[in-house]
Amino acid sequence: MVNIKIGIIGGTGLDNPDILKNRKEVKISTSFGDPSDGVVVEGEIHGIPCVLLSRHGKSHSVTPSKVNYRGNIWALKEIGCTHIIASTATGSLKEEIKPGDLVIADDFLDRTYQRQQTFYDGESDSLKGVFHLPVHPPFSEPLRKVLIDTAKEIGIHCHERGTIVTIEGPRFSSKAESKMYQMLGCDLVNMSTVPEVILAKEAGILYAAIALATDYDCWKEDYNTVSHDQVLEMFKKNVDKVMQLITAAVQKIAEKNWDKEISQSKVSLRSYFLFCNS
Ligand code: ADE
Repeated sequence: MVNIKIGIIGGTGLDNPDILKNRKEVKISTSFGDPSDGVVVEGEIHGIPCVLLSRHGKSHSVTPSKVNYRGNIWALKEIGCTHIIASTATGSLKEEIKPGDLVIADDFLDRTYQRQQTFYDGESDSLKGVFHLPVHPPFSEPLRKVLIDTAKEIGIHCHERGTIVTIEGPRFSSKAESKMYQMLGCDLVNMSTVPEVILAKEAGILYAAIALATDYDCWKEDYNTVSHDQVLEMFKKNVDKVMQLITAAVQKIAEKNWDKEISQSKVSLRSYFLFCNS
């Protein structure tokens, strides 16, 4: 059975290293640049090796457009992660997804326009060749299932699917944009799922995201328009629930044999192996 290691990408308000036992900070640099803060934190949950990476840096100093998503994902790959559980603050575009609710995302819509989305960009120290990633399904279905089953088992309510539209930011959406995303069938809006989920798939890492709805963006007449303070406050209120779900899910992940999923996920890395051997 392949050894597993679980990367945990902490979004806004969700990067407290206390989740890990026996932790140590590891400085890491990759051919795609440094991850946020230039470090990851290695440790254990229930004795299972895990690695925590703070997406925006510990002091939340990196804006969503400036996050080095390639450096972050490649750092997790180099340190041996087979799985990633990401957390993300999102605005809800649906009445029934209430602020405070969790959603295990199953699709995305991309409204970013200034982010690198591939490790195969033709640069000399990038992966060689051109690679057209079959992105569907973007989130690992077996990993999503573990999160959903775990949430049910420990009595945490979650929505079992949801499409996230990722906007470039750092500004929030206009009301016209918010309503357009609703018309397009999106359930949630954030600033970070793209290109993270795409790069994880390119890197052959099984990826799932726990989205916390922190607000109703700005479409809802009888509700506050989203603000950064509101996002942080809602995250603070719900952080324990997300931590609880991640902690319990890590144990469940370790109980399953992932050999088949891990070997299938490596398809997109065929030219990486050629590159390593050249
Ligand atoms: N993150 C949390 N709430 C958000 C919103 N309404 N729009 C974009 N990103 C968000």
